[in-house]
Amino acid sequence: MPNLFTPYTLKGVTLRNRIAMSPMTMYRSTDGKLDDFHLMYLGARAAGGFGLVFPEQIAITPDGRTTTHCAGLYDDNQIEGHKRVVDMIKSMGGVAGIQLGHTGRKGSLVTPWEGGHMLPPEHEAGWQTRAPSAIAYGGDMPYVPRELTTGEIDQIMQDYADTTRRAVEAGYEWVELHFAHGYLGSEFFSPLANRRTDQYGGTLENRTRFHLQALDAVRAVLPDHIPLTMRLGIDDLHPDGVTVDESITAIRWMKEHGLDLADVSIGFNTDNMQGDIPIGTLGGMVKNATRVRDEVGIPIATSWNLGQPELANRVIEEELLDLVYLGRPALANAHWPVYAARLLGYQDPFSLVPEDWAWWLRNLRGADEAIGWPAATNGATLTEVAGVSAPAPVVEETAFEQELAELEAELKPA
Ligand SMILES: Cc1cc2nc3c(=O)[nH]c(=O)nc-3n(C[C@H](O)[C@H](O)[C@H](O)COP(=O)(O)O)c2cc1C
Repeated sequence: MPNLFTPYTLKGVTLRNRIAMSPMTMYRSTDGKLDDFHLMYLGARAAGGFGLVFPEQIAITPDGRTTTHCAGLYDDNQIEGHKRVVDMIKSMGGVAGIQLGHTGRKGSLVTPWEGGHMLPPEHEAGWQTRAPSAIAYGGDMPYVPRELTTGEIDQIMQDYADTTRRAVEAGYEWVELHFAHGYLGSEFFSPLANRRTDQYGGTLENRTRFHLQALDAVRAVLPDHIPLTMRLGIDDLHPDGVTVDESITAIRWMKEHGLDLADVSIGFNTDNMQGDIPIGTLGGMVKNATRVRDEVGIPIATSWNLGQPELANRVIEEELLDLVYLGRPALANAHWPVYAARLLGYQDPFSLVPEDWAWWLRNLRGADEAIGWPAATNGATLTEVAGVSAPAPVVEETAFEQELAELEAELKPA
C-alpha cells in the first residue's frame, strides 16, 4: 500500500514522494523571466522535500499572462531563468514541472496587492485580451475580449509547441497544460465563456477540440519519457456550465491524445457558483477526482485543502488520489513534507530531503525540539499512526532539555 512518502513513477520520471507543490502565480517577474526570487522560493521548497515542484502558470504568449509581472516562456531569452530554477530544484532532489497556460479573457490585470482588477486595453500596462468569444468575465474584469480567429488558434497551438521546446531545453521533466480556473483552456471548455458557432463551439466534442489539439501539439515535441498532464476545471458549479459528467467524457478523449495524468480543479468561469462548493471543505475535490480516475482509468491528482498531513496521507493510502497537490500549505511551510512526516511518525523524516541538508536537520544537538515544530511521534511507524485524526506527539525528556536545565541553573544569579 503506498503512502504519502512512497516514490511515484509516471512515464520515465520518478518523484521521490507523492507531494507536489501546486503552481502558484507570484506576480514577481520582470519581462516574464524567472529570477533570484524564484530561485530562492522554489529552491527552498525542493530542499524542503516536495517531490514535484511547479513554478507558477507559465504563459505561452505575452498576452497569456495575468499581469505584466507574470512569468512566461514565450521567448528564448526567458530560457536561462527557467534553467537556473530547474537546476536548483533538481540539485535538491525534486522534479521540476511546468504549467503552460494562457489567461484568455482573465488577463490584463494588476497584481493582487494593487487590487487585482482589470486594466483597459489602452492602459500602458494593459492589453486587448483574446478569448473564444467576445464575452467579458464581468465584475472587476469588465473589458470585452476579442474573439480569436481560427488562424490565431492555429498560432496558439504553435505557441504551445514552441514553449514546450523551450521548457525541455530548460530541463523541465513534467508538463501540465492549464485548462482550469477560467483561463483560455477553461474558456473553450465552458459554455459560459464559449458561444462560438464554428468547430470550436457548441457540442462537447467541439468545445474539447482546443484541448486535444494542444495535447497533440505538445506531445509531438515532448520527449516520450516526460509525462504530459493537464489541470481541468471539471465543474463550473453553474446550471449552464461544465459538468463532471462532461469532463469525464472529455478526459477519456484526452487520454487518447497522450494525456498521462489529470489534475482536476474547478472551472471558475463565473462568480455565480451554485450548490455545494467542494473547494470550501477539507479534501472537497477528492470524491470527484476519484470518480474521474475510476471512470476514465487514468492517474489523478487534485489540490484544495489537503494540507493536513493525516488527510493528505489517507487519500494516498486509500488510493483515492495518485498525487497530492499543495498550494497554500507549500507557501506557508517550505518543509511541509518533513513536517508531515514527523507528525505522521514516519521513521526518518529527514530522509525526504537531500543528504547534506538532512545531516544538519538530524544532527544539530536537540534537533527535534530546537526546530520549533511539533515533536516527532518517536519510534512509531507511519502505518501505526496513519488514520489518527489528531496525532498526539510524544514528547520525551531529552538530553537537550537536561542541558537546557543545567544551563539555566548555571545562569541563575547566586
Ligand atoms: C497565490 C496563489 C496563486 C495561484 N496561482 C495558480 C496558478 O498559477 N495556476 C494554477 O493552476 N493554480 C493556481 N493557484 C491555485 C493553487 O495551485 C491550488 O490549486 C489552490 O491554492 C488549492 O490548493 P490549496 O488548498 O492547497 O491551497 C494559486 C493559488 C494561490 C494561493
